[in-house]
Amino acid sequence: MKEYWNNRFIHEGHIWGRQPSKTVIDAKRIFALNSVKTVLVPGAGYGRNTKILSDTFQVDAIEISSEAVLLGRQWDTGSHFIEGSIFDLSFNNKRYDAIYCYDLIHLFTKSERMRLIKTCIQQLNEGGIYYFTCFSNEDESFGVGKEVEYNTFEYKKGKISHFFDEDDLINHFSETEIKEIGEVEEVFEYSNDVSRTYKLRYIYGRSNSNTSKV
Ligand SMILES: C[S@@+](CC[C@H](N)C(=O)[O-])C[C@H]1O[C@@H](n2cnc3c(N)ncnc32)[C@H](O)[C@@H]1O
Repeated sequence: MKEYWNNRFIHEGHIWGRQPSKTVIDAKRIFALNSVKTVLVPGAGYGRNTKILSDTFQVDAIEISSEAVLLGRQWDTGSHFIEGSIFDLSFNNKRYDAIYCYDLIHLFTKSERMRLIKTCIQQLNEGGIYYFTCFSNEDESFGVGKEVEYNTFEYKKGKISHFFDEDDLINHFSETEIKEIGEVEEVFEYSNDVSRTYKLRYIYGRSNSNTSKV
């Protein structure tokens, strides 16, 4: 995983451009409404989506790729980039008011996804807010490659992607207080002038059922 991402960041740099996702703008609005001060961003890449958060909140960005961390520290000087895996948060005993996690959870098998979500939710303060995005089963890549688990496809050797339908996404977060789920389209212009529209789903909620302004 680490080698794959390092190679991509070495050869493609700011792979998905420099404009933040509309989901992070939405997440920022929700975080501000709820007086959030600290945010954890797992799988932060080169900081495309952390930069807009770190001008307002204290952001810790966890990223497995050393190359992405180098790019991130240049692009978003406001976030604190930590090189490491989200599955090994033993080095990080901090708790956060919120988590924003863009397009990370679909990269794993079911048991890994459940572990990732549990690990993230455990990093939240009581009543903390989470906002995740992931691939939708409505995306054009759905069904490409060998199905290795339910709705999870190996689309290139050793590289899998899970595609979430609405119920599946709800089930993954069933131990939390879900506030909203929805669909969003993202258009990326790649460096070779190719553009691609991705269909994503998002979910946000709280780590428990405390009173909320969300
Ligand atoms: C699809 S990219 C999304 C990038 C980023 N979230 C954004 O908003 O641009 C997935 C990112 O997760 C990172 N990643 C993959 N597995 C990870 C892990 N176990 N722990 C931390 N980061 C991971 C990859 O290096 C890559 O930067």
